Amino acid sequence: MSLTDEKQEQLGFKFFIASMVASLGLLIYLSFFGPGVNSLDQIAELQEETGVPEFDVEEVEKPWLASPEMVLEGKAVYAGAGTCASCHGVKGEAGIPGIAARNLIEGQWRNGGSSIALFNTLVDGISGTSMVSFKDSLSVNQRWALVHFIRSITKNRPDDNPAELSAFGEQNL
Ligand code: HEC
Repeated sequence: MSLTDEKQEQLGFKFFIASMVASLGLLIYLSFFGPGVNSLDQIAELQEETGVPEFDVEEVEKPWLASPEMVLEGKAVYAGAGTCASCHGVKGEAGIPGIAARNLIEGQWRNGGSSIALFNTLVDGISGTSMVSFKDSLSVNQRWALVHFIRSITKNRPDDNPAELSAFGEQNL
């Protein structure tokens, strides 16, 4: 092996080590310190780039009215740690062994599937079952966001009476 070959090989090896260190560093950064990648972050980023103001659910003045943003917010709350997905399944399909939670897609509602009825279920829970009240753990607007998310995935979505819904919403802000 000539001297230049050896030098080249050393250089190659150094380069290899440097790239390993760099990618490991990047991996550690992304895993522990990075901003994280999820669809909501990406949406927020897109909104920033396009000049659309970031969505803050608590700023919504009439949270009982459905919108794509509210559905997305509801989806995020639904999937949040210890909230709904752990009993009702990632997609609302239920079927988790040992948990008799309602299949939200089929929507065989006991208390009704109107927006008001679903909101009331989240306030009151269903006594005698593991479906507890989310009155204290979620804000009013988060509960409405969940209602809109559930109504976006269920097959059983009875029509709301808009006037009744507005009146109820105003009273329960
Ligand atoms: C610890 C398990 C558990 C968690 C967590 C849970 N649920 Fe439930 N949920 C249930 C069970 C069990 C039922 C069925 C109760 C019954 O037998 O009527 C139910 C029923 C429901 C119903 C049906 C109401 C009706 O009228 O039939 C809705 C809607 C619902 N849950 C939404 C949610 C949402 C939204 C969340 C998150 C904020 C949530 N649940 C969290 C267990 C859970």
